[in-house]
Amino acid sequence: MFDGSPSRRAFLKAAVAAGGAAALSACLDRAPDDPVPAGTAEFDTLPDRQHAWNDVCATDDHGNVEVPHHQILLYLDLSSDGPPTEDQRATTEQAFHVLDRAYERSHEGLLWSVGYSPRYFQRFDESLPERVDLPEPRALSPFETPDFDRQDALVHLASDRADVVLEAEQALLGEVDEANGVAVDTDLSGVFSVDDRRTGFVGAGLPAKHQSDLNGIPDGNPVPKQSPLFMGFKAGFAKNQATEDYVTIDEGPFAGGTTKHMANLRQRLKDWYDEEDQYHRIMKLFSPGHAEQGLVEGIGDNLGDDSGIDAMVDRIREDAESFGHVGHAQKAARANRDDEGNVKLLRRHFESADDDVASLHFPSLQRGISDFEAVREAMNGTDLTDVPTVRQRVNNGILEYIFAKHRGNFLVPPRRLRALPTVTGDAPMSGE
Ligand code: HEM
Repeated sequence: MFDGSPSRRAFLKAAVAAGGAAALSACLDRAPDDPVPAGTAEFDTLPDRQHAWNDVCATDDHGNVEVPHHQILLYLDLSSDGPPTEDQRATTEQAFHVLDRAYERSHEGLLWSVGYSPRYFQRFDESLPERVDLPEPRALSPFETPDFDRQDALVHLASDRADVVLEAEQALLGEVDEANGVAVDTDLSGVFSVDDRRTGFVGAGLPAKHQSDLNGIPDGNPVPKQSPLFMGFKAGFAKNQATEDYVTIDEGPFAGGTTKHMANLRQRLKDWYDEEDQYHRIMKLFSPGHAEQGLVEGIGDNLGDDSGIDAMVDRIREDAESFGHVGHAQKAARANRDDEGNVKLLRRHFESADDDVASLHFPSLQRGISDFEAVREAMNGTDLTDVPTVRQRVNNGILEYIFAKHRGNFLVPPRRLRALPTVTGDAPMSGE
């Protein structure tokens, strides 16, 4: 198991952020003695859903899924124009098989997925079937100007072990000969180039460890030690998350897949910590009712497996008028239920210290990107700004503190189509 000592965690986090072969070898020199659980060559035993992570993630005492602690995002461009060839596809699948063989599919081994952008699918003469809900990314609030990620593919690597995500990255890029004892006989370097690399971490202790000298976090180390996120609270309660079943595309050529919105949000938490007290932070992040009724203790572990937001949704306008504030979760929840009360979005967000700036990588899975867009619109709370105290970014959830820097949309196909799929849901390979 991972040696969780603070110095070791800080070292591995720095190594993930720095990346590169040097970081990896430094990391391997200091790798924990416990072996990394091995993967399998029985590929058919792996689930068809690339996004099936929950049953192999750690959970807390309440059964809430804990996203793996260390993460790397690789934004990749195909090195050639036009549709991919069968050779490129075969190479890609073989490179992915190295990861399957090397690491157990679990938070102690490696969890990963690959998604493809709308721009990638434009390489083909035909279009994606209409029912695949994958628009180009766009600004989702009247007050943001993000850069749009339109690279062909996004590989997302996640593990509780920093040495694993680093080594997996190096294996994919052909920078190591072996990954967890498995020969790296094929890699992606002849097929893709890396346009961008982003990293992150989440889990109790990690944001606090990373907070000093980080742009966006004020002096005085205000992030509570036990908080999994920079803002000082837990998120992702089981009952406030969609199930993996719910976010899975259930028909058509990409059945078994899902869509992924990936945002990056810069955080500026000076006023969050220096001007607000815990009462107001709870009001802004959860709801005024949560603050008034004292529902949240500390980082919110006492909430169990349910944030309790459903009881606060209908009173939002009244809250705006009487408290002068509306809550972030309260606003978002308005658009996050279907007619039967099911939650629509599966959020798996994690923090980042890339470029010494505090930010949040926000992957959200849902059946179609419009579900995400609707929730984000509800979170904007523009409809509540006729109440005099609520302005577009002030007293309006956490909008004063977060700034969208990047947005991208991706289709995460089922595993059988994970290597450069066609728009019709095929993946023909040379040599078959
Ligand atoms: C730094 C940024 C953010 C932080 C710290 C944060 C934190 C939280 C917390 C603490 C909750 C309540 C607990 C829970 O249900 O997980 C919550 C709920 C939620 N947040 Fe965020 N969030 C952030 C950004 C976003 C963004 C960008 C979206 C995009 C739409 C979003 C969507 C949601 C949704 C859908 C819920 C669940 C509401 C429901 O119960 O349906 N959050 N968030």
